[in-house]
Amino acid sequence: MDAKGKVKIGIIGSQFQADIHADSLRIMPHEAEVVAVASPTPGNAAHFAKRYHIPRVFTDYREMLKEPDIEMVSICAPNSLHAQMTKDIAAAGKHIVCEKPLAMTVAEGEEMIAVAKQHGVLLMYGEELLFTPKYLKVKEMADAGAFGKVYLVKQSEKHFGPHSDWFWDVNRSGGGALMDLGCHGIAFTYWFLGRSPITSVYCQMGTYVHGAKTKAEDDALCILEFANGATALIENSWARRGGMDDKIEVFGEAGVSYANLHMGNAMPTYSESGYGYAVEKAPTTKGWTYPVFEELWNYGTPQELTHFARCGRGKETPRSTGEDGLVVLKAIYAGYASAGEGRKIALPYQPPAGTKRPIDLWLNGPAYRQPTKP
Ligand SMILES: NC(=O)c1ccc[n+]([C@@H]2O[C@H](COP(=O)([O-])OP(=O)(O)OC[C@H]3O[C@@H](n4cnc5c(N)ncnc54)[C@H](O)[C@@H]3O)[C@@H](O)[C@H]2O)c1
Repeated sequence: MDAKGKVKIGIIGSQFQADIHADSLRIMPHEAEVVAVASPTPGNAAHFAKRYHIPRVFTDYREMLKEPDIEMVSICAPNSLHAQMTKDIAAAGKHIVCEKPLAMTVAEGEEMIAVAKQHGVLLMYGEELLFTPKYLKVKEMADAGAFGKVYLVKQSEKHFGPHSDWFWDVNRSGGGALMDLGCHGIAFTYWFLGRSPITSVYCQMGTYVHGAKTKAEDDALCILEFANGATALIENSWARRGGMDDKIEVFGEAGVSYANLHMGNAMPTYSESGYGYAVEKAPTTKGWTYPVFEELWNYGTPQELTHFARCGRGKETPRSTGEDGLVVLKAIYAGYASAGEGRKIALPYQPPAGTKRPIDLWLNGPAYRQPTKP
């Protein structure tokens, strides 16, 4: 493998997150380049390749893995495919960037970590909130003692629901708003608090708006307790109107900081006619809107992928790993169990043998709530 020049990356998938990965490396091109894309729908992959000037196109990702010069592969495919893809990429001797959530089950996650180790490749876990410039600044201030001992970290990510069918199908997603968006809040607060172990999870959830479309919860509230005494409150929703909303609040004995990724970076704007694009999942650009600028950069994905490329060359140590993804997945399982049982769940938590999807612990639990009728 040519370990000189830019790190050559192959992307699996050609839709939403694949687009963010390719675009991120387009705006931050000095360490890595996308040389191949693999996606089962031929027209889609070819169209994607043309847009980003990607020379090699595959319909079967396993064929892409045979390319000797590709050093790193990013998985931008549905959750249910992450485990098998990770195993195949590791067996091909390439570093892995796995998008969140790590996997459908804890056993899969453990196997992914073991297989990467066995083949001597890195399993890096895509969690861009660890690279989001505004949130990094708050972490930097916290680590410098600006807030004294931090006792509460809040993170919230909400919008009106995902863009693709598979998210709504619990067999392919594993769960709803908590599985999809809660993994950001859990990963972020765990990292923010210095990876203090999570000791308990309490969660409430419901399906308030999208019951006709999915068995999954479209709103979730989650309280985590950490071994260092701090607490996290994580709010997630697929029922929130008005486009993407992502924010954090940090409370310490000696200070506080609020960071809102969207409103805080936006220019409150009024337009009668509308305009091109406001922000992810915004339903309209007419009337009052909050357009973002440098959206990719403000999220941190270009910085994340550049960091991962450098890790592949041994220049940096991964900030977000398969092990982190597994911690998050275990907390997600405890979260669904908590909502299903209507009580706080202490960690470590062992789901019943044979559990294939986190959401089953809620759907089959005594505290499950039927979807709200519209
Ligand atoms: N970090 C983030 O903020 C973020 C945002 C969105 C999605 N994601 C994650 O990224 C992953 C992909 O989500 P998305 O929004 O891009 O979904 P999407 O539906 O937009 O795209 C999924 C892609 O996977 C491809 N695919 C499906 N089956 C495949 C197979 N067998 N082999 C190869 N490719 C296959 C599809 O063709 C499609 O191109 C998910 O795990 C999701 O949770 C992360």
